Amino acid sequence: MSFIKYGSINEYKIEFDCSSIHILVDSNTKKHCLPKLPARLTEQANIIVVKSGEMHKTIDSAKMIWEKLSNKNADRKALMICLGGGMVGDLGGFCAGTYKRGIKYIQIPTTLLSMVDSSIGNKTGIDVNGIKNLVGLFNPPIEVFIDHRFLMTLPSRQILNGYAEIIKHSLIAKEDTLFDQIFEKDLLKYKLEKLIPLNIEIKSQIVEKDPLEQNSRKWLNFGHTVGHAIEAQAMQKGIDMLHGEDIIIGMMIELELSTEKLGFSKELRNKIIVWIKENYRIDSEWLDGEAKSLLFFMKNDKKNCEKRTLFSLLKSKGDCIENVECDDKLIIQALQRHIKW
Ligand SMILES: NC(=O)c1ccc[n+]([C@@H]2O[C@H](COP(=O)([O-])OP(=O)(O)OC[C@H]3O[C@@H](n4cnc5c(N)ncnc54)[C@H](O)[C@@H]3O)[C@@H](O)[C@H]2O)c1
Repeated sequence: MSFIKYGSINEYKIEFDCSSIHILVDSNTKKHCLPKLPARLTEQANIIVVKSGEMHKTIDSAKMIWEKLSNKNADRKALMICLGGGMVGDLGGFCAGTYKRGIKYIQIPTTLLSMVDSSIGNKTGIDVNGIKNLVGLFNPPIEVFIDHRFLMTLPSRQILNGYAEIIKHSLIAKEDTLFDQIFEKDLLKYKLEKLIPLNIEIKSQIVEKDPLEQNSRKWLNFGHTVGHAIEAQAMQKGIDMLHGEDIIIGMMIELELSTEKLGFSKELRNKIIVWIKENYRIDSEWLDGEAKSLLFFMKNDKKNCEKRTLFSLLKSKGDCIENVECDDKLIIQALQRHIKW
């Protein structure tokens, strides 16, 4: 995608005509990332700070942002820059898309997850009523600027969080480069500056073919039917789980379903699961006994219709099938087998 640029943030220039610039940060990206932006940009900008964390991806934060834009008389030629992870990107992109019926915005992702996933694909939104991304827009940024050096201040748990989506891309992609690299080595030793463009390429190609998620974009949901249910249950119980951690457990369970429903190789499935368990340490004890509640969340997932539980599953590596229906018994069996680490 031509509007995705890589480079050093020191040299970053805005090449768009705008009447004012508003930079959205959260409390952590204000501290770690904002000082890395060139002074010529920050000096003329209105800085808007939102509290960090998913619990602040809300209508209250959106209202605060709309009001701060309005207090500075931002007009329809105003530009918003979202400097942060997926939370800032989703929230800022949503506010930009709705303020005065839409102003332009730029994504500068600062977490691995946002570099390889959330900044690509135009989805923006907020959580409402305890439901993630219940309200949102497809709203493309005018530019995504990626500098992997922002990751230097990111805690290793957050790096592993982003790797979950890299693993997913490597499994659903037809091309083998990523897959060949990723399952051989120790996770944290990878050269991220090489892996990030590969992942963006994979996600961009899928999004370009089906921007509104009518069919093949659903492949990106591999691991996510179960993963989102775990995420919802964790949110309800106040358990500290990151999106990528939910998805990594979701992928192990959905690999099991892939074997049962579509004949995905047992050998490869076991190899991947062993590798995941060696590289991730996730406290999943709390999930013991939660299979029925997870099933409830899956049936009520906003992507499902008529209470059917649908999955994107793998026939083989690089061959993903969307809308595969699984019955409750099979889902419960797979959950019980893999729910504990
Ligand atoms: N739009 C999409 O297509 C899409 C896809 C996947 C996920 N998401 C959304 O993305 C969000 C998760 O994104 P995330 O994992 O980036 O979380 P996040 O934005 O909450 O960032 C994680 C933590 O890292 C901190 N942080 C960010 N950059 C930092 C840096 N460079 N140094 C130090 N700390 C830094 C943040 O303040 C936060 O505490 C969720 O809201 C999820 O719904 C959206």
